[in-house]
Amino acid sequence: MKGLILAGGAGTRLRPITHTSAKQLVPVANKPILFYGLEDMASAGIVDIGIIVGDTRDEIMAAVGDGSRWGVRVTYIPQDAPLGLAHCVLIAQEFLGNDDFVMYLGDNLLQQGLTEFTERFAAARAGDSPQPPSAQILLAHVADPRQFGVAEVAPDGGVVRLVEKPADPPSDLALVGVYLFDATIHEAVRSIAPSARGELEITDAIQWLLDHGHRVRHEVLRGWWLDTGKKDPLLESNRRILETIDARIDGKVDELSTIEGRVVIESGAEIISSRIRGPVIIGENTRVVNSYVGPFTSIASGCEIRDSELDHSVVLDESRICGIAGIADSLIGRWVEVSRSGRRPRGVRLMLGDHSNVDLE
Ligand code: TTP
Repeated sequence: MKGLILAGGAGTRLRPITHTSAKQLVPVANKPILFYGLEDMASAGIVDIGIIVGDTRDEIMAAVGDGSRWGVRVTYIPQDAPLGLAHCVLIAQEFLGNDDFVMYLGDNLLQQGLTEFTERFAAARAGDSPQPPSAQILLAHVADPRQFGVAEVAPDGGVVRLVEKPADPPSDLALVGVYLFDATIHEAVRSIAPSARGELEITDAIQWLLDHGHRVRHEVLRGWWLDTGKKDPLLESNRRILETIDARIDGKVDELSTIEGRVVIESGAEIISSRIRGPVIIGENTRVVNSYVGPFTSIASGCEIRDSELDHSVVLDESRICGIAGIADSLIGRWVEVSRSGRRPRGVRLMLGDHSNVDLE
């Protein structure tokens, strides 16, 4: 089985904060979103991975390289414009050949891995059913299905119909960004026409499979799933991922500090006279001095947190927070400095980038 990761499309709206234009590279718990999908594929034993890249190809190629870090081989497939998820399959045909493949949206984060999902597809195809499935989709119950591709499922578990962002949804089961296909999908993506928004829709391609008598299996997601391209998701994603980390202390903690719960302290980091209450991750070469870092906080590398208190927050690389208590639910970009000068007149002196958002007491 091969892998296809979709990492083209529009850039991130978090650009002024994250300094990356690729939304798939926005860091969650100090790791780019895209790497979680790559890791899941590698753990499922998938070694040949194609990545669809668009305007942000240089950044993605620089971050991922040839894939050897994960023990996989990455082939980059350039897409000139974001012409739809089915268009990605169309342009990946040469890479995919006749192999089965898993398609993964590069801005999605899933709690469950891919191993069982792909194994059950392989088993269903190898079984003695007179009609093995040509595709398998993953569905999740959602509150407002009108924003998603939605599936209608028969009582026997077969998928009957798919509709993209329906005004009148046939169910509350939305398509999650992971799909399994056999080579029949190539005929489907060649046969469909662009939708009203001018994209080749993967929902239309799967509907084509159904209309032509092919079987589509489905599974309902276990655990959480975040479509990080959808809404401001970074703090939420960070919280979810931190709940799953394993404690590890590679840096230095002095005897005046206390570490509680699940905490990762990367090498070169130093915790001095401070209290860290997990789940928390502290990046390489970050110094935390005389401070409190509370639950669900990720601090990236090269930061300094001094005489401060924060929780439920994300701080990106090389930032400095000095003398500030009560930072919560905050997203702090790279090379940011937050400090107290004591200058008169008293006031808040700000230098904020585009789309910044400040909520004062
Ligand atoms: P999205 O633009 O989020 O695709 P979607 O169809 O799920 O979104 P919408 O809410 O508008 O229906 O893109 C999902 C991922 O796929 C993201 O990582 C970007 C990538 N992508 C491509 O690589 N090429 C494309 O043509 C499109 C549309 C998306």
